Amino acid sequence: MTTRTAQPATLTTTRTRAPEDDLEEFDEHPVRGRFNSAFFWVMGGYINRHLHQRKSATFADLPPTVVELGAGVGANMRYLPAHARLTAIEPNPFMHSRLRRAARSWGVELEIRSVVGERIDLPDASADAVISSLVLCSVRDPDAVLAEIRRVLRPGGRFSFAEHVAAEAGTPTRWTQRILRRPWAWVFEGCSCERDLASVIQSAGFARVDLTHYRIHSPFLPFNTHIAGTAIA
Ligand SMILES: C[S@@+](CC[C@H](N)C(=O)[O-])C[C@H]1O[C@@H](n2cnc3c(N)ncnc32)[C@H](O)[C@@H]1O
Repeated sequence: MTTRTAQPATLTTTRTRAPEDDLEEFDEHPVRGRFNSAFFWVMGGYINRHLHQRKSATFADLPPTVVELGAGVGANMRYLPAHARLTAIEPNPFMHSRLRRAARSWGVELEIRSVVGERIDLPDASADAVISSLVLCSVRDPDAVLAEIRRVLRPGGRFSFAEHVAAEAGTPTRWTQRILRRPWAWVFEGCSCERDLASVIQSAGFARVDLTHYRIHSPFLPFNTHIAGTAIA
């Protein structure tokens, strides 16, 4: 793992639409929003211990300027190159102060865009790389988000992802995902453990998709089945 020392970071927040414009795609909840921010801040190290090996391969060799969907509290800053510039698409305002704190400690130049992945306010073909982790489970419309990622990527640009997905049908993990789907989604702001995100990404019209399925072993059983990979626009 790359270790970098804390450096001053440039920090800006952009909100180009009124908050109510995004209500359809993101339900801003004062209690769950704060809870999720604190949860991922406290549990980030634990989650990353399970995902680090795949993430470090998937997010290797990123360019200096990166767009991240659902950046949360900054779990992926450690994978950015030194002095990187990160445009964070993060609709939960309760994530923002911790995200800024992470940017300062990793020396990342951060711009937060308080919009949803379904409507990214960046020009066509303007990004070299888009990344996400544990986000496509939570967005309202994964197909729309994938279409937006393709739109903002320049031809040949990469979308690198590490996401959790539905387990194989008929397995105990899949049954657990079904049984717990409602409380899980309530606690984690709409997160679904039942999505076949590999198919969603593979059918999104990218020129090439390389992905791998893998399993982690955590007590959070519905969360244990994952994919990681890269799609080229
Ligand atoms: C489970 S957290 C993961 C955060 C971070 N990527 C990580 O790996 O720790 C999901 C994140 O996606 C964000 N999110 C939810 N719906 C979204 C949407 N429609 N567009 C973009 N981000 C969204 C949430 O606010 C939250 O920060």
